[in-house]
Amino acid sequence: MALGGSKKVSHVVCEVVANDRISNSFYLLRLAAPSIATQCEPGQFILIRGLVSSWPYLRRPFSVYSSDSEAMIEVVYKVIGRATQAMRGMVEGDRFDAIGPLGTSFSPPRDTTIVVAGGIGIPPVAYYCQRYADYGGRMILIVAARDRSELLVPVNLLALGIEIITMTEDGSRGEKGTAIDGLQKALEAVGKPSRIVACGPVGMLRHIARISRQHSISCEISVEERMGCGIGACLGCAVPASSGGYLHACSDGPVLPAEAVDWGRWCET
Ligand SMILES: Cc1cc2nc3c(=O)[nH]c(=O)nc-3n(C[C@H](O)[C@H](O)[C@H](O)COP(=O)(O)OP(=O)(O)OC[C@H]3O[C@@H](n4cnc5c(N)ncnc54)[C@H](O)[C@@H]3O)c2cc1C
Ligand code: FES
Repeated sequence: MALGGSKKVSHVVCEVVANDRISNSFYLLRLAAPSIATQCEPGQFILIRGLVSSWPYLRRPFSVYSSDSEAMIEVVYKVIGRATQAMRGMVEGDRFDAIGPLGTSFSPPRDTTIVVAGGIGIPPVAYYCQRYADYGGRMILIVAARDRSELLVPVNLLALGIEIITMTEDGSRGEKGTAIDGLQKALEAVGKPSRIVACGPVGMLRHIARISRQHSISCEISVEERMGCGIGACLGCAVPASSGGYLHACSDGPVLPAEAVDWGRWCET
């Protein structure tokens, strides 16, 4: 895990370049934000507030899905409430108030690396695969969702040499099974990888943390816990720490070593 602190955080007003529906459940928002695009690392997030009257009071956190490292960043989002509904209605030329990049990022891959995305956990790990596609090792991405309507497979990564295993719980696309079934399959294929990187629901992350501990595999997870302020001030994003007390997803994370989390306490709460 790398600290985002060495990178410069910007507070900018940026324009929508495109905002398109890309599947049943997902939209792709492209923003012109050079000061963020040049600084962001896979796993980091931005806090945004749409400058439209329908936006609720608070900014909302979104992982960076892609960056051209020069001018543009992309966010993939799912519509679940007021802010994302407002976001869906925004068009080219509309503006966002944005702060970023924020938080910690994933460590670069080593040798064979397995990457796991559950549901809307895909954006930060797809960016990870894109950024490090030419690192020289074998990278396997497991993309899992409940059914095909909840699945986003970044097929552009295939051309970059990333192997993709697609899983749906109802078997409507790819193989039938969960993200954990996909991980077991990848482990059988490659033996012991050097690193596992994951983002998705807490229950999935807990399983992955257990498997990586059992096999002594270095594992980093992104915890997309609900946030209030997003900058370490409100204590709204607490994650129980294995050392006692709490970590804050917005300032200590969102990327954390899996062993830093007290999974028993977190999954109870
Ligand atoms: C670091 C980080 C990165 C994120 N990256 C992405 C991303 O790339 N794409 C994406 O679509 N979403 C992402 N999210 C989640 C996104 O922030 C929420 O979907 C968004 O804030 C919802 O705002 P809303 O006003 O539309 O919904 P709200 O009205 O705020 O919420 C609607 C419902 O969803 C629940 N909810 C809201 N946020 C979360 C959450 N984080 N986890 C679980 N339940 C929640 C609420 O309890 C409520 O029931 C990320 C969250 C974090 C913390
Ligand atoms: S969201 Fe306020 S402390 Fe993390």
